[in-house]
Amino acid sequence: MDNKRASWSGQLAFVLAAAASAIGLGNLWRFPYLAAQYGGGIFIVIYLILVTTLGFTLMTTEIAIGRMTSQSQLTAYSKLHKGWGFIGILGTIVPALIVPYYCIIGGWVLKYLVAYAKMAFTGVALMGEGAAGAGDFFGNFITSPFAPFGYGIIFIIACAGVIVMGVKNGIEKSNLVMMPILFVMAIAISLYVISMPGASDGLRYYLVPNFSSLCGPDGKFSVALLAKTILGAMGQMFYSLSLAMGIMITYGSYMRSADSIERSVRRIEIFDTIIAIVAGLMIIPVVYMFAIKTGTPVKEAMNAGPGLMFITLPKVFAMLGTAGNWLGLSFFILVTFAAATSAISLYEACVASVCDLLDMKRRNATFFMFFVIAFFAVFSALGYGPWSGVTFSALFTKLGCTGEWATGAVPSMQGLDFFDFITNSILMPIIALCTCFFVGWVIKPKAIIDEVEREGHPFKAKSFFSFMTKWVAPLLLIAILVSEICRNLGIGGWKI
Ligand code: PHE
Repeated sequence: MDNKRASWSGQLAFVLAAAASAIGLGNLWRFPYLAAQYGGGIFIVIYLILVTTLGFTLMTTEIAIGRMTSQSQLTAYSKLHKGWGFIGILGTIVPALIVPYYCIIGGWVLKYLVAYAKMAFTGVALMGEGAAGAGDFFGNFITSPFAPFGYGIIFIIACAGVIVMGVKNGIEKSNLVMMPILFVMAIAISLYVISMPGASDGLRYYLVPNFSSLCGPDGKFSVALLAKTILGAMGQMFYSLSLAMGIMITYGSYMRSADSIERSVRRIEIFDTIIAIVAGLMIIPVVYMFAIKTGTPVKEAMNAGPGLMFITLPKVFAMLGTAGNWLGLSFFILVTFAAATSAISLYEACVASVCDLLDMKRRNATFFMFFVIAFFAVFSALGYGPWSGVTFSALFTKLGCTGEWATGAVPSMQGLDFFDFITNSILMPIIALCTCFFVGWVIKPKAIIDEVEREGHPFKAKSFFSFMTKWVAPLLLIAILVSEICRNLGIGGWKI
């Protein structure tokens, strides 16, 4: 093992790196449509409460575990307490499963970046004549046998290039370039969108709490709908803050003890939340205008899932003519950077684990992981094309399930969706639950508090932290786990 572990050059570098991991497709694409779907302002308020309570607790825990042990997640838990290493093993499986499909989606984004660059500079309409062609463009691309994998591999190679250069020279420097560009572009695009004539209705739809979204068909307030909104916000919070994947443990292990964990966590949360809210300002008003113009029900337009970014938005850009090409280009540069910095953090979590476990050099570990990632990426890349017939739906039907995945309705459980389900819905809540139990009842919150207070830093929220870790977080996590399983397998009539 390296005698001296790599470290960030300072608190700002750490905050930027963790924020770079957190800010990704989750902020730009998932947050806006969830907010639109769950009653706008209501969802945003619930999300903010969760980020500053549960999110704060979990992120502080992970960063402190990393810094305390100077290990990545794979070996950190067993170093703290023999017999609990299994959490680290689970926590390594998740990024290893996510990074291949995240890179395939990164490849989709890259494809759009290239297409918009061509359209902006040559004026050729690659997405077909006018608005109608955007859906075909997407469909043709993801079902083709080689292109999705090809773009995915380019994306993986770019991430590997950064990782091989190391923590300070690779990850830190690349963030210094990509993150400011990302911030400036996000603010600029959202200002442009807000100033468009007719944007105010969409803004209202996004930001003003819509209490009717909490009422059932009879018009009465429904506790079940409120619970669903909270659970939706909680799932988003996990994903968006890159929690329960060992990333914050790995990044924390490069943190200097002179820097404050509590203050860093607050800043990371602020950055991540600002970009999520700004993403909604970029997307919701234009999709709203599009829905009104084309007579599509607003809810349906917002609720397009992956299609929102890859089909609906391009249609909106197409309606804007030449300006739309440039807007599309800026937007996809922004998304590419956001996806790349997140993918780099996932890849790094895997590389650091391999280095710590096998005492391997960074370069060799990066190379080794490249093949692992590329291998699994094949399944995600081909899942919508040549292998679209291969789904996991049959398996779920055999298990007697009747939910969305079993019926194959939304959408059939192809490679990419399957990895998404296993990681987000099952493994991540389990890992977070085990971590909270481990910290709350095995090593005790004091171990984390001592680490946060090292070198005389105050930990203002320490009593709150202990209470959350021991009681509130585990209960919330059990709730999310049960609801995710019921929802996906169609048990008990859950359907969000
Ligand atoms: N947090 C990232 C996002 O919002 C996604 C991500 C998840 C990145 C897990 C790294 C690890 O898109």
